[in-house]
Amino acid sequence: MAFPLMVRNPTFHTHQVTALSSFRAKSLSILNFAKMEGSEITQVARKVGDDDLSLKKKIFVAGATGSTGKRIVQQLLAKGFAVKAGVRDLDKAKTTLSSTNPSLQFVKVDVTDGSDKLAEAIGDDTEAVVCATGFRPGWDLLAPWKVDNFGTVNLVEACRKVNVNRFILISSILVNGAAMGQLFNPAYIFLNVFGLTLVAKLQAENHIRKSGINYTIIRPGGLKNDPPTGNIVMEPEDTLYEGSISRDQVAEVAVESLAYPESSYKVVEIVARPDAPKRAYHDLFGSVVQR
Ligand SMILES: NC(=O)c1ccc[n+]([C@@H]2O[C@H](COP(=O)([O-])OP(=O)(O)OC[C@H]3O[C@@H](n4cnc5c(N)ncnc54)[C@H](OP(=O)(O)O)[C@@H]3O)[C@@H](O)[C@H]2O)c1
Repeated sequence: MAFPLMVRNPTFHTHQVTALSSFRAKSLSILNFAKMEGSEITQVARKVGDDDLSLKKKIFVAGATGSTGKRIVQQLLAKGFAVKAGVRDLDKAKTTLSSTNPSLQFVKVDVTDGSDKLAEAIGDDTEAVVCATGFRPGWDLLAPWKVDNFGTVNLVEACRKVNVNRFILISSILVNGAAMGQLFNPAYIFLNVFGLTLVAKLQAENHIRKSGINYTIIRPGGLKNDPPTGNIVMEPEDTLYEGSISRDQVAEVAVESLAYPESSYKVVEIVARPDAPKRAYHDLFGSVVQR
C-alpha cells in the first residue's frame, strides 16, 4: 500500500503496514498510563515488546466520537495505523471506542480552542489529520461557524505549526450549492437556515485549499448508519446534489485516501448507488480531475 504522506520514518514501507496490522497480541506487553500536560493529553497507551508501536504511522482523528469519526478510527486501527483520537469527552470516548487497544490514544480537544492547543494535541509524531467534526445542534446559532469553519481552520493552522502535511476533511455535498444552481434545493436551504452550516464548511474548505497542505476534501451525500447498500459513486466538486451513503463507506474513503496519491489535492463528492459498478480506489480517485 503506497502512502503518499510526508514520511517521517523513511524505513517504514508498504509491507510493514500490512505486517503491523496482523501483529499478535501474545507478543505484547502493554502499559497504559495517564499523563497530564495541562488539560491536554490524558491517556496514553504504550506497548513494550517485540513489535514497536513507534513504527506505526499515527493519524490524528478529530471528531473521533462522532458517528463517522468512530468508524474512521476503527478502520484505521484495523489497517494497522496508530490513532490519536481527538475527543471532547474522555468517558464518552472510552465507551464509544476500545480503550484497551494499545494503538489507540485519546487526546482531549475542542477545535474551537485555537491552533496552539490543537498543535500540542496533534503533536510532532502525527503523519496526517482526519477531520470528522460537525457542530452539535443546540441553542448556539453560531456553532456551525465556530466548529465547521473556525474549528477546521484551527486544525489546519495547527498542522502547519507541527509540520503535518496531510489533511482529510469530511465535508458535504452542496457546500457550494449557490454556485452550482442549487440555491433552492431544499437540502441547501435546510442546512443553511440554521447557522449557515454549508457556507461555514465551504469557508473551511477554501482555507484548506489555500493553505498549501496536501488535502483530500470528501463531500458525502446524506449519511446513513446502515451498512452499504450500493457501490460508491465518486465525482468532482460541485457535481452531486442528491443521494446518500453509508457512514461505513465514508470512513473507508477517508482511510483509503491516505493510501492513494491520486486523492491528493482533490475534492471528491461521494454517494452510493445500487446500480453503480464496483470500482477500485485508484480508479475512483484517479478519475476525479481537480479543477
Ligand atoms: N448528517 C448528514 O447527513 C451529513 C451529510 C453530509 C455531511 N455531513 C458531515 O459529515 C461530518 C460527520 O457527520 P456525523 O453525522 O458522522 O457527525 P456527528 O455524529 O454529528 O459527530 C460530530 C463530531 O464532532 C465533534 N465535535 C462537535 N463540536 C466539536 C468541537 N467544538 N470540538 C471538537 N469536536 C467537536 C463531536 O464531538 P462529541 O461527540 O463530543 O459531541 C462528534 O465527535 C460532519 O461534518 C457533518 O456535517 C453530514
